[in-house]
Amino acid sequence: MGRFSSSTLQIPETSRVPRHVAIIMDGNGRWAKKRFLPRVAGHRRGLEAVREAVRLSTQFGVQYLTLFAFSSENWRRPPEEVSFLMNLFVYALEKEVAELHENGIRLKVVGDLSPLDASIVRLVRESEALTADNPGLTLTIAANYGGRWDIMQAVNRMTQAHPEKDGLYTEQDLAPWLAMRYAPEPDLFIRTGGEQRISNFLLWQLAYTELYFTDTLWPDFDARTYLSAIHSYRKRERRFGRTSEQLTQDPQELPAERTVVPVVGG
Ligand code: IPE
Ligand code: IPE
Ligand code: MG
Repeated sequence: MGRFSSSTLQIPETSRVPRHVAIIMDGNGRWAKKRFLPRVAGHRRGLEAVREAVRLSTQFGVQYLTLFAFSSENWRRPPEEVSFLMNLFVYALEKEVAELHENGIRLKVVGDLSPLDASIVRLVRESEALTADNPGLTLTIAANYGGRWDIMQAVNRMTQAHPEKDGLYTEQDLAPWLAMRYAPEPDLFIRTGGEQRISNFLLWQLAYTELYFTDTLWPDFDARTYLSAIHSYRKRERRFGRTSEQLTQDPQELPAERTVVPVVGG
C-alpha cells in the first residue's frame, strides 16, 4: 500500500490550505473567440495562466497542483488544434523545466503517453528525472489522461502482479497502481470555464474532493479566482461520511473507523 490511503478507508487530515489542488483548465477557446482570435491563441494565453497557478500555489503553501492539460477525449478535436496543443506542451517543457527546477518544483506527467512521439516521452521522462528530488510543490500535468483509463490500467497491472488474489482485490491493492499514487487525493477541485462536469478527470481520486466551479475562463485565472476557490473550500464541512455533530467531538470519543454497530432488532 502507498503512503496515502483512500478517503473511503481513512479520514485524511484536513487543513485551511488545501494540500492538493486539481484543476480542469477550461475556456481557452471561448476566451479567444470573445476577442475574435483563433482558438489556439487562447491556449497560448492559457500557458501564462499555468505559470500563474504554479506561482500562486507555491505562495499559498499548496503542496500538490494537478493540471488537466489534454484529455483522452481531446483527440476528437480538429487535427490542427491537437498538433498545436502537443507542440505547446513540448515548448512549455523545453522552456520552463529549468526554471521549475530552480524553484524546487517536482514535475510529474500522468496519462497514457504511448501514442505520443518517442521524443516527447523522452523529454517528459528527463524533466521528471531532473526534478524528482525537489522538495517544493509537486506539479502534475495530466496529458492524454482519462479517469477510466487510469482505473483500467491500474486494474490490469494489479491483477497481473497478483493473479493469486483472484476476485479478492481491495482498494488498498489498487492504490499503488494508480497514476497519482505519489499524492494524497485532491482536497480541492477547480474547474474554470463555467461547465459543471468532471470530463473523465481523476474519477477514483475525486471521491471526497470539494468541487468548485467558476465562470472565469482559464486564460483569466488569477489570484482572485484562486483565492475565491480557497475561501469557498475553507467554508466547507468535510464530513467524510460522519455527522456534523461528530466533527466537534473529542476524537477519543469517536467510534473507530469501520466499526460495525449491530442494528437492534435488525
Ligand atoms: C481547455 O480549453 C483547454 C483544453 C481542453 C486543452 P478549451 O479549448 O476546451 O476551451 P473552450 O471550452 O472551447 O472554451
Ligand atoms: C476538459 O476540457 C479537458 C481539459 C481541460 C484538458 P474539455 O473542454 O475538453 O471538456 P468537455 O469535453 O467540454 O467536457
Ligand atoms: Mg472546453
